[in-house]
Amino acid sequence: MRAALDGRGRVGLVPTMGYLHEGHAALIRRARQTTDRVVVSVFVNPLQFGKNEDLGRYPRDLERDLRVAGEAGADVVFHPEPDLMYPAGFASTVQVAGVSEPLDGAARPGHFAGVATVVLKLLNLVQPTQAFFGEKDWQQLAVVRRMVADLNVPAEIVGVPTVRADSGLALSSRNSYLSPEQQAQATALSAALRGVQEAYAAGERDVAVLKRIGLDILGRDSAVQPEYLSVVGPDLTEPAVLSAHPLNRVLVAARVGGVRLIDNLPLLPASASGLGRADAPL
Ligand code: PAJ
Repeated sequence: MRAALDGRGRVGLVPTMGYLHEGHAALIRRARQTTDRVVVSVFVNPLQFGKNEDLGRYPRDLERDLRVAGEAGADVVFHPEPDLMYPAGFASTVQVAGVSEPLDGAARPGHFAGVATVVLKLLNLVQPTQAFFGEKDWQQLAVVRRMVADLNVPAEIVGVPTVRADSGLALSSRNSYLSPEQQAQATALSAALRGVQEAYAAGERDVAVLKRIGLDILGRDSAVQPEYLSVVGPDLTEPAVLSAHPLNRVLVAARVGGVRLIDNLPLLPASASGLGRADAPL
């Protein structure tokens, strides 16, 4: 894999599970701008799905993915079969303690070990100078950064702001499970995050108060079943009172029509937040 890219300067890797949308395309375009050769991986990683999750019905369309990836600037699309990544006898997993444990780690046992394992394999196969991940999956980005630092992986991890529909809904391959009506209901997630973001920008630092504001907005639509709404500092734990930090974040997980959705926004002081530009890069 890596031999095909040798001697060609900076190599960018964009790991995905396919069914590519504008969020993935933004990562690929960023890689195109930053590096000389862009590799996109498309692999629905069985290791990161729980027993009762949607591995079997995860949306797939390789032909379209090849087109979207090419149009966004990919040079190579790596789309291995599961037995190439996990042949008989495969026995190793990467566990990242701490940042993997709260939030989605608590809700989806084993999920981040599956993510860390496949991402380390992809980093080793491609040996990129830079790898690109979306802030949409904020905890995943933190897990990957921790792993790369801990295990001396010689790649820079680049975070890319979340791409949203005009409604505020964060783009996700799983939005394809939602009817138009459910997509409208799902805007409650970003509305709740914005409510918390605005209260923070206005000076509120009490985490219980910030959470109540977000949960109240989320609770307005009975079709939305909240799983968590959390206000965290840079280590992804929830303090009683936030102290100023550029990595303060509000995160939410909720089900709409049985589909589990996640989203998050930065918490920035009024001077930096430029309300309206909710996902301004750090
Ligand atoms: P997937 O959900 O396909 O997402 C691939 C990458 O695209 C991730 O880095 C994700 O954060 C980013 N992404 C998804 N939606 C986005 C949006 N609306 N705006 C910006 N970026 C977005 O995340 C995974 O796959 C997997 O866990 C993976 C890292 C590939 C490991 O299997």
